[in-house]
Amino acid sequence: MSTSPMYSDSTVPFRVTDPQKIPVKRYYDQGFYDLETDKLWSRTWQMACRVEQIQNVGDWIEYSILGKSVIVTRTKDGIRGFHNACRHRGVQLVPGGGHGNCKTQGFICPFHGWRWNGEGKNTFVYGRHLFDESLLGEDELKLPECRVEEALGCVFVNFDDDALSLRETWGPVLDALEKRLHADQRAEWWFSTEIPANWKIAMEAFMEGYHVMRTHPQLQRAVPSLYNSMYGHDTGGIGDQVNPHWTKAENIAAQVKNLELLSEGMAGMVHAKEVELARMVPADVLPDDPQQMLMHWFGAVQHTIVEGLKARGENVPDLNALAVSDPVHAVEFLFPHYFLLPFFTSTSAYRIRPTGPESCTFEIWSLTHFPKGEEPDPVMEPTVLPYDSDQFPPIPRQDYSNIPVQQKGLHAKGFEFMRLSKEKEGMISNYNRIIDGYLADAPREKLASATHTLGGNFDGQFFLYDF
Ligand code: FES
Ligand SMILES: [Fe+2]
Repeated sequence: MSTSPMYSDSTVPFRVTDPQKIPVKRYYDQGFYDLETDKLWSRTWQMACRVEQIQNVGDWIEYSILGKSVIVTRTKDGIRGFHNACRHRGVQLVPGGGHGNCKTQGFICPFHGWRWNGEGKNTFVYGRHLFDESLLGEDELKLPECRVEEALGCVFVNFDDDALSLRETWGPVLDALEKRLHADQRAEWWFSTEIPANWKIAMEAFMEGYHVMRTHPQLQRAVPSLYNSMYGHDTGGIGDQVNPHWTKAENIAAQVKNLELLSEGMAGMVHAKEVELARMVPADVLPDDPQQMLMHWFGAVQHTIVEGLKARGENVPDLNALAVSDPVHAVEFLFPHYFLLPFFTSTSAYRIRPTGPESCTFEIWSLTHFPKGEEPDPVMEPTVLPYDSDQFPPIPRQDYSNIPVQQKGLHAKGFEFMRLSKEKEGMISNYNRIIDGYLADAPREKLASATHTLGGNFDGQFFLYDF
């Protein structure tokens, strides 16, 4: 790819000019990190909280990133966001990581006690006569708003008042995910950890399945033919997922084992209740032809899961219909920092926030459906663990074991760029080049149409963008 046109006077250092090669300084250079802070994080939609965390009028929760902080709150007119700073001398009105309800007291500044109601209107200035009236007009004192939008059971915020909407930014992948009724899911648990690695290194560990063979060997061992058909040799195709030396029952047992390992390993992504239903699909009624057998089995599993969960009162989507009308991939990314692993009706959700050029906060939610009226209380705070804690499910723990050592390796003498597979690691390149587009101030519409290409691009190929 030739050097791309620039849209601003500023140059983007360590820009990706060959899609197969990602310059490593992007992952530790302070100047690059500062540019991301200025040009990327200030202009993109970010997952701020789960909707169920602010169920009642007055409920609020604080979201912060790179020194910016927002109060996300439910008002009588819906969810709104306010920049978290007192209009007097700038003290934060609510603490970082906090949550509460402002209905009775409003927001009270801890410094001199000025107050705001839940709609962001100032209701009290102590010693009003001490100030020039020109400083105290209603508009002057109201809390400035931050853009918010709701989707997939989450509230997203954007610090850019001129940003395109969530739907314009993410496009078809958002529609496809919404059809899977994610807004109806609730969190079962929420973990958070600090990882000594650049946020992009952490994201990129989830953009391909090529690492399964070495990083998640238990999955590879359970169904080697499944993973080899995707990564191990060149033939591909669903028929290769069947081991010709195994009986039909043995092949199906291996597929079920894979689901069990995914469930134990990831919790939310494949839920234990879904595995239980998958086990009920009999192997002997499946066609003998290997091509047909797996397809029939998977369709029967999806049908059994949907019917079984509906019978329990869960509002789950018709997975077989969606597989045709709105297919999604193993991991779907909502640029820049939130991604979902939608397997059957349950989901693992991940959010990554930079905390320095070589550190990030990494959070995981396990999301699933519940019968109406049986939803659990919202999970209000994450369980914070060290990244190598054995309390993490095994699969993220295996992923986390690579991320910090990759960050270290990037500093090695002579290691100037990563080398990407054009078949399976295209998304890493696409992601990085969209980041470059933000850093170069490319037009919003061009950035949005490039962002649409990230949907369904897990394990995918390179795309070229005209910025
Ligand atoms: S800084 Fe908030 S009341 Fe003074
Ligand atoms: Fe992984």
